[in-house]
Amino acid sequence: MSKQSALLSAPTSALLLEVVDGALIIQHWGAPLQGDLASVQTAIRPSIANSSWDFPQFPGIMRESSRGFLGRPTLSGHRQGKAWSTKFEVTDFHHSKNNVTVTLRDFHAELEVTLNFDLDAYGVLTQKGSVKNIGSSDYNLNEFIHWLPLPKEATQTLDFAGRWSNERNPQRKDIATGTWVRESREGRSGHNFSIADIALTPQTSFQSGNAWATSIAWSGNSHYLVEKLFDGSTSIGAGELLLPGEITLAAGESYEAPALVSVFSAEGLDGVSAAYHSYLRARSVHPKRPRPLTLNMWEALYFDHNEEKIKALIDVAAEVGIERVVLDDGWFHSRRDDRAGLGDWVIDPAVWPNGLSPIIKYINDKGIEFGLWFEGEMVNPDSDLYRAHPEWILHEGDRVPPLWRHQLVLDLGHEGAFNHVLEQTSAVLSAHNIAYIKWDHNRVLVDAGHLGKAGVHRQTQAIYRLFAELKKRHTGLEIESCASGGARIDLGVIDLVDRFWTSDNNDALERQTIQRWTAQVIAPELLGTHIGPTHGHQTGRTLELSMRATTALFGHAGIEWNITEATEQERKHLATWAQYYKDNRAHLHSGKMVRVDYPEAHAYLHGVTAHDLSKAIFAYVQLTPTVAIHPSPLKFPGLDPSATYSVKAVFPAGKPRFMLITPPDWMSGITLSGSALASIGVTAPILAPANAFLIEITKA
Ligand code: DGJ
Repeated sequence: MSKQSALLSAPTSALLLEVVDGALIIQHWGAPLQGDLASVQTAIRPSIANSSWDFPQFPGIMRESSRGFLGRPTLSGHRQGKAWSTKFEVTDFHHSKNNVTVTLRDFHAELEVTLNFDLDAYGVLTQKGSVKNIGSSDYNLNEFIHWLPLPKEATQTLDFAGRWSNERNPQRKDIATGTWVRESREGRSGHNFSIADIALTPQTSFQSGNAWATSIAWSGNSHYLVEKLFDGSTSIGAGELLLPGEITLAAGESYEAPALVSVFSAEGLDGVSAAYHSYLRARSVHPKRPRPLTLNMWEALYFDHNEEKIKALIDVAAEVGIERVVLDDGWFHSRRDDRAGLGDWVIDPAVWPNGLSPIIKYINDKGIEFGLWFEGEMVNPDSDLYRAHPEWILHEGDRVPPLWRHQLVLDLGHEGAFNHVLEQTSAVLSAHNIAYIKWDHNRVLVDAGHLGKAGVHRQTQAIYRLFAELKKRHTGLEIESCASGGARIDLGVIDLVDRFWTSDNNDALERQTIQRWTAQVIAPELLGTHIGPTHGHQTGRTLELSMRATTALFGHAGIEWNITEATEQERKHLATWAQYYKDNRAHLHSGKMVRVDYPEAHAYLHGVTAHDLSKAIFAYVQLTPTVAIHPSPLKFPGLDPSATYSVKAVFPAGKPRFMLITPPDWMSGITLSGSALASIGVTAPILAPANAFLIEITKA
């Protein structure tokens, strides 16, 4: 039989698959390969150690104990205690260009697994997998994880943790023998969800070094695992976290695992981001229109839906140059605070006696789009829906799950509940000119049963189905995925939504870090970034408008502030900033994100460089006071070394607060080569803490 192997190649990475003794083996995931690879298996065939197998074992991708594997298997499950151990053999291997589909069967366990590997031109590897019950009895599936091998030099991992208003804090640590598991059991990806799990070398930085990143494409329960066995082998994997009995496959039924989307980069964490961003931008569903400058009225109004107040806000919004206005929580039946109304998606005549049409017309007449808030998966016990259908909540036995923000979760796996939400939201959309909806999800799922069985998997599929149906019915509708801020940002829902609400924390100083790490995977144009109020509602911190505006520029920009209270000067600055955003969004939303490895902890230097290296816009952000009088210069990597660039500081929303007598000369404009900008840089001014400004670099 001829050897079955496949090399998937991208300019920046490669995946080498080979079938050995019936098992599918990933021989390599990392740097590009070329030339004679015929003897790879012989080259890395292990020696026979003391106290070990008589012959080398090749467990392969299914990681089975029947093939001598002593770690966590890829697939686990049983048929009432039988078929608990598998030995899959490759029965079909189909390789075409950068895509491989492999079928594996175990005729004893009566299971068929299909795996697909696809490597795109940017080096993004998508792994898909499914398992089919080819027997006649039920098969209970416990787990199906996608795994990738890590080389020995990957001795660290980076993942993310957080809470409401402080999402995606990086955690970097050494890999030790054992298994490191990051579980998400919230029934949504969650504030604490790790948007990626990244293996690195100790030297890997933003700009350089190897990184092996994985990101699970799922919005329900999930887990990431990094496993180092006592034989020294290390692997990284992720999958859906299935609750007991959640998936039972009847004869002929299949389970499709969420895809794992992975990137190897030899160009550090920015190389990883560049690959993910290019991959996202290449999707047919990626937003094509320039991202409209948005005013979300939540922090301006909260539940105080007063038409005159809103009109005054719209007037200022129009003057500033806003292109989309969003009416947030509080417009529907009996929703005067967060204790009642969820589930009743009809306009409340108490606050909107003439309905929403007049205010939408007022907004549209000023050339502004209108957006509306929903939280369709939720229900308040104090609602007509709950009074009519208390049985439509996710629950177990006769228990009602503990309340969270006075609400419960509707069981969208129940057709009645699903249709109620679909038809009520759809009716509002059909009756009005609504360009966009912000879809919230403000609590976790616990004790989440559907008709006596665990229901999170079904619920996750249901929300995907609901979003798809809403988009089908309402052509052009954009959806923002919000969940108490950034608790549903993942590659599972991303093809069904057009924007993520990055965090409820609009404090620009906090946002610098939240945005920096959310954009590790998600392209900035998909991340909502708003100018918050002068005194932050979450932290109480007072920040300069220039700091708030500089921070909000690096994403799908907007404002979330009662701008009727802004001073004349602030409104002027908002208008010049809005124009700057419009003039530069094409660049900011298409270029390469660059996070400079600035040598001192007091500042971030980050920006976006055009792929043709003709232009870059950077932000220098002073987070805390400097220690030295003269901090490290600002160096800009990745420009065309021999080209000459004009460099200057720009202040579209006013100047930052400087802590010096004379700012550095270059700020008013100089020219310098790309190599000098990378290696010598320009003098960093001293700013007051929590201040920022922009630097424009343009090929002369
Ligand atoms: C949480 C969201 O993150 C906020 O932006 C806002 O929409 C509130 N919910 C409304 O209740």
